[in-house]
Order: sequence, then C-alpha cells, then structure tokens
Amino acid sequence: MSHGNYIKRINDSLIPKVHLNWPVLDLFAGSGGLSLGFEAVGFPTTGYEKDRHAVETYNRNLEGHCFEQTLTCDTQFETPYEVIIGGPPCQPFSVGGHQKGKKDERNGFPIFINAVRQLKPQIWLFENVRGMLYSNKGYFAEILRELTAEGYLIEYQLLNAVNYGVPQTRERLFVVGHHGKFTFPSPEANPVTVGDAIGDLIETIQDDSKILTPSMDRYVANYERASQCLRPRDIYLDKPARTLTCRNIAAPTGDMQRVRLQEGKRRRLVVREAARLQSFPDWFEFCGTETQQYYQIGNAVPPLLAYHLATAVRNYLVMTGRVESESIEKLVQPQLTQMSLF
Ligand SMILES: C[S@@+](CC[C@H](N)C(=O)[O-])C[C@H]1O[C@@H](n2cnc3c(N)ncnc32)[C@H](O)[C@@H]1O
Repeated sequence: MSHGNYIKRINDSLIPKVHLNWPVLDLFAGSGGLSLGFEAVGFPTTGYEKDRHAVETYNRNLEGHCFEQTLTCDTQFETPYEVIIGGPPCQPFSVGGHQKGKKDERNGFPIFINAVRQLKPQIWLFENVRGMLYSNKGYFAEILRELTAEGYLIEYQLLNAVNYGVPQTRERLFVVGHHGKFTFPSPEANPVTVGDAIGDLIETIQDDSKILTPSMDRYVANYERASQCLRPRDIYLDKPARTLTCRNIAAPTGDMQRVRLQEGKRRRLVVREAARLQSFPDWFEFCGTETQQYYQIGNAVPPLLAYHLATAVRNYLVMTGRVESESIEKLVQPQLTQMSLF
C-alpha cells in the first residue's frame, strides 16, 4: 500500500457512513480505539473510563459519550446494550505488570463478567495481552467457565494487527461470547509498512526534545548487547513497526521506539507518528499531557483492527436475524461526515 492510500484509508474509513440500532457498551474504554472501529461500522457507543484525560479524548472524537467513572462490581447500567466490548486492564497479565493476574487489585474481569450477567448482550468481546493464555491460563479458564455459565458459546483467537491493515506487529488475545455463527475476521493480504504510515513525517518533524543524546545512544547499545539483540531495534521504513506499548513510546527506555534520521541521529516517535502506527486517523485529537497521550495510544486497540472486529460482530447480528439489516441502517447526512474532518 502506498503512503497516500494508508493515510486516506485511516482518515476516511473510520468515519461512520451508516447508523445501526445496536447500542454498544465499551467498558474500560480508554481514549476509544476500540469504540472508534465500532462507530465506523455504524454502532452507537457508550464508554466508561476512569481516566479523565482519556475520557476527554473519547468525547472530543467519538459520536458516542464516555462517562468518567471508576467501574466496580456494583456498577449498575441503566440502559440495555446488544453488544459489550472492552479492554479490562492488562497489567495483571502482562510481563511488565508482574503477571499477578487474579490476585492483582487492578483485575477488571469481575467487573466485565458482572456487566455481562446484568445486561445479557447478544454478543460480547474483550481484548487482552497474550500472557493470559500462558502464565494465567488457570484464571483464564475460570473466566471462560463463568461466562459460559451465562449461556454463551466462547471463541478466542490471537489476532495480529499487522494482518488487518495496521503497520505494526501487535498480537493480542480476543475473546468473543455469542449464541452461534460468529466468525473472526479474515486477515488481509498485504502488510502496511512504517514508510506507508509515517514516511512523510520522519524528516519533517522538528522536535529536539525527542532526539537521542549520546548517553542515550550508549544506553540503548548496552541494553541491546545485554539482551543479545541481533539487529538494532530502530524502526525500519520497509517493515511494520514492532508492538507499540505505553512504555516504549512514552519515555526514553532501552527498547524505546525510535526512527533513524538521514543525518544519522535517532529520534523517539512523536505523538502523531505513534498514533498513525496504531491506525488512529489524523483528525483524531488526543487530550492531556504528552505522556498521557502516549499512554492512551499505547493502551488502545488499533481502530482499523477494531473496525474488522466490528464488521464481524455486525455480520453476526445480521445473520442471527434479530433485525433485518436494511431496516436498521440509516445513511449519515453527508454534511455530518464532513464535520468530522479537519
Ligand atoms: C487497555 S486500556 C483500554 C483501551 C481501549 N480499549 C482502547 O481501545 O482505547 C484499559 C483502560 O481501563 C481503565 N480502567 C482501569 N480500571 C478501571 C475501572 N475500574 N473503571 C474504569 N476504567 C478503568 C484504564 O484507565 C485504561 O484506560
């Protein structure tokens, strides 16, 4: 894919063209990466999120509303939802978060299960890190048992964002509960590269605060020697990026994401570059401090991948025949579509 095609794709295809009548509840919504893909397919979304700045970002960019609220197992939802989606915090299951799993007080699964129990949606979906399948597989099985008991068929897959038009290898676990006939989206053929996504920005951005100092260069070299890294972990223009995380984009660490400039210096990614590599459109504005913006990006489900998942959910709802698709889709007025662009 050429640079222009990728930019056009993220800027145009993540704007809703139709409106469906199936409300979606997004738990732990962050800045709305997952919701954005669902809205693009036409689902109306409502988010719940405790971080004020992520909520502000969601409400600035999405059509739906995000409530600033810390969810608990006692949270009551007033309206019905056909679909529940969410990204329960992954620190309890990630290597960086020490994988304490169920014992970790940040564990959001009891809250997610409680919402499913309360609202009995047609279909639900959650995302988490792949570590859930390994060091916490006992707890993962327990979560599946509890949700199966609510009457759902459950399927899960590790999906790599690079197979869905995102210029980044990012493998995450997606778990879906449904009542039959849901199928995960098929991968696309051609991977998108870093050059396609940020080729125009690398040499034009002037931000001296992101240039690696000689001591950072030495630190990175030591880190790579110690971790027996065969190739420097710079970003390569002709390949997809490696997984963006909060840690490797927000601060200068040993494995920070950095581009090599023509003059030989290296520079950390700026917010817009990180956003593009996560497939956020250029019209999507992040709120909060720069560090908070990096965290919102690193935490997100890439909207293009979310779009593919949302399409699979839509197809499932149409196929189960609950409502005829023609009767529930309304074309968005063209002037509304334009308003979402810069
Ligand atoms: C992995 S991120 C979600 C990212 C989101 N799915 C996206 O695509 O942008 C998890 C989010 O859960 C939020 N969170 C954690 N515990 C929460 C709670 N008890 N109530 C509400 N939000 C919570 C965190 O602030 C964080 O933004």
